[in-house]
Amino acid sequence: MFSHEQVSVRRGPRSGLPIIIAIHSSALGPAVGGCRLWHYPDWRDGLTDALRLSEAMTLKTATANVPHGGGKTVVALPPGVVLDGPARRDVLRDVGELVESFGGRYATGPDVGTSAEDMNIISEATRQVFCRPESVGGSGDPAPYTAAGVRAAIGAVFRLLEGRNGANEVRGRTVTVIGLGHVGTQLARMLARDGAMLTVTDVDERRRSLAEELGAEWCAPGQALTAETDLLVPAALGGQLTVELVPELRCRAIVGPANNQLAEDAVAELLHRRGIPWVPDYLASAGGVIFALARELRGATPDEALRQVGGIGAVTEELLHNAARLGISPHLAALRRVGERLAAAPDAESAPTIAVREAIKAPMMN
Ligand SMILES: NC(=O)c1ccc[n+]([C@@H]2O[C@H](COP(=O)([O-])OP(=O)(O)OC[C@H]3O[C@@H](n4cnc5c(N)ncnc54)[C@H](O)[C@@H]3O)[C@@H](O)[C@H]2O)c1
Repeated sequence: MFSHEQVSVRRGPRSGLPIIIAIHSSALGPAVGGCRLWHYPDWRDGLTDALRLSEAMTLKTATANVPHGGGKTVVALPPGVVLDGPARRDVLRDVGELVESFGGRYATGPDVGTSAEDMNIISEATRQVFCRPESVGGSGDPAPYTAAGVRAAIGAVFRLLEGRNGANEVRGRTVTVIGLGHVGTQLARMLARDGAMLTVTDVDERRRSLAEELGAEWCAPGQALTAETDLLVPAALGGQLTVELVPELRCRAIVGPANNQLAEDAVAELLHRRGIPWVPDYLASAGGVIFALARELRGATPDEALRQVGGIGAVTEELLHNAARLGISPHLAALRRVGERLAAAPDAESAPTIAVREAIKAPMMN
């Protein structure tokens, strides 16, 4: 079944490169999704990526209650093609014009292979662009807001686990942060400030200095995932939560910004069976995009945009309660909820569906 609303494929008039924009859904608001500039063996592989990633954006925005739908741009670079300065500019201008042709029904931002500076070039052709540099009036680096969103989700988890509230949510609780990059560093600082007992790790040994600064324990990257801890915070790369890992886990809950944490969907069900709440990464990591969209597309003040980021806490709490009430994993609860919201959209007849994977099959643990 064709589940997308609109897909446009165009050879850039300046660059000659294939540019794909997929709108999965604008049923809940104008679609949003980053611009990926990446090498593909064939442009059709870029199309497959655009279809998959735009659907993932619908899941992200709808779960986080953001008034937007899901879309994605992919510029499919043929193998070996390297863009020099003028050629890069050409393709970004082509992207801007194609985005503009959607008349406000789709806006783009940075993704793999593109930067905030690139968004500035795209903005020469369209206003439907976000995450531009602060120096030109954009919302700048999203990492602090991503961290704030994760912090809000963490609060919700401790409220669920222990009925704790306010600043005391994490005080005296053990938290293990894996990955001390842009987001992990800011998050570790917030958690230390709020009285959590931190263990941190990174494959980059230079990050040890942060552990010293925060009075945190440092552990070897290979040991962090199975450390005994109240909360595990994946803030490095995706795919770390595997079927094999689940029986080894010694945490009470998992919440972090890393994208695509689950090596496969079935891990969500296994975590649920082990009684370990996992806040879906597409919700926990939404703070940066929520801030940027509110500021740059909807004209919100910084305070108002930050308030919307904090809303991740209430959404997480509701999701975890719903999942517990239904006896299903938070991931499945989120998929079902998004399916319901799309079906109830005013334009429901033509609203695309989200693949609610009811049969998330989980292998037996033994
Ligand atoms: N930056 C954002 O606003 C944002 C928004 C949404 C999602 N995310 C996701 O959050 C994650 C972190 O983003 P970031 O911007 O901080 O990235 P980053 O590249 O700045 O930091 C990642 C850190 O993880 C470390 N690392 C890599 N592999 C590791 C491993 N196996 N064990 C321990 N440490 C490891 C790296 O050395 C690096 O310090 C990524 O998955 C990213 O896609 C980020």
